[in-house]
Amino acid sequence: MNGKKVLVTGGAGFIGSHLVDALVLRGNDVVVYDDLSSGRMEFLDPCMGRIDFLKRDLVTDKKLADLLKDIDHVYHLAANPDVRIGADDTWTSVEQNIIATYNLLEAMRISRPDDPPSISFTSTSTVYGNAAVLPTPEDYGPLMPISQYGASKLAAEALISAFSDNFGMKASVFRFANVVGSRSTHGILFDLYHKLKRDPTRLEILGDGLQRKSYIHVSDCVDAVLHATETQRSMFEYYNIGTKDHAVINQIPLIIIEAMGLKDVEVYYTGGHKGAGWKGDVKFMSLAVNKILATGWEFRYDSIESLKKAAKEIISDQEASISP
Ligand SMILES: NC(=O)c1ccc[n+]([C@@H]2O[C@H](COP(=O)([O-])OP(=O)(O)OC[C@H]3O[C@@H](n4cnc5c(N)ncnc54)[C@H](O)[C@@H]3O)[C@@H](O)[C@H]2O)c1
Repeated sequence: MNGKKVLVTGGAGFIGSHLVDALVLRGNDVVVYDDLSSGRMEFLDPCMGRIDFLKRDLVTDKKLADLLKDIDHVYHLAANPDVRIGADDTWTSVEQNIIATYNLLEAMRISRPDDPPSISFTSTSTVYGNAAVLPTPEDYGPLMPISQYGASKLAAEALISAFSDNFGMKASVFRFANVVGSRSTHGILFDLYHKLKRDPTRLEILGDGLQRKSYIHVSDCVDAVLHATETQRSMFEYYNIGTKDHAVINQIPLIIIEAMGLKDVEVYYTGGHKGAGWKGDVKFMSLAVNKILATGWEFRYDSIESLKKAAKEIISDQEASISP
């Protein structure tokens, strides 16, 4: 893949901007495509002058096929990644995650019918829903997501599978655990940091605190995507991307409280929805990662190490953005 021309949709977002940094370092010609709905231009500062940036929207873009004519590979990250909104808003994930993905795939097909670009897609562990098998392997089924977000990502995976088969598009699907690290604009550490900034004496945790989830540091996550994409031989592959272990949610308050240097914080639990954080939240998530490990990739940080490292990074990001 080195030296190839790649398009990164959602490249100004949390994970996308780290991927862009890594692609530029590898010597790729990188085009970042983002509508900046949640992405930030400052995340691209380290690469400015070495990338092309396009502020465009996958849902409405009529010129996507022209853009794709000379693209070798697409990393498709653009999405609305908010799992929580689905309980009240059932349309956003359909539009941003399914229709946007369809528009992209169709433009890829039209751009070069005989030799379409290849694609790597960032999916999610939430496609498994409340899986009966933990850690959950890629071939677990039936897949029964419990959130609109998980359902929309599963629909997007299915479209990619069909486009890959019908039109000879090489494709890989990455089902991420919870990704943490610098430039986060959402997720548990980000939420807890802001709650503690508002009230450093009390900290509300959604759910009963006994939820168990796998966390991966964004640097490991990006490394896994690049490694698997670059070494893939078959036309279509699925990979779980996570650590071998998990964290219990009630371990996380202490991590952020200690990292912020706070003391005597009263931590309390809402009970949530059947013990999970909210309607649509998967209470127990752990991914079998044998398949990605078999490709020769190794993660550097386990779940707790990832959370500790990310807590420090998020605090440093937030303090920098609020200082004068
Ligand atoms: N963060 C996680 O823990 C996690 C876990 C599993 C999967 N994922 C997936 O990884 C990908 C990146 O997530 P993230 O956490 O970096 O989120 P993010 O919100 O930071 O990134 C998404 C990016 O897509 C852009 N975007 C959204 N809709 C767009 C559109 N219609 N056209 C163009 N750009 C658009 C946003 O501006 C943003 O920059 C997403 O596909 C998400 O579903 C993330």
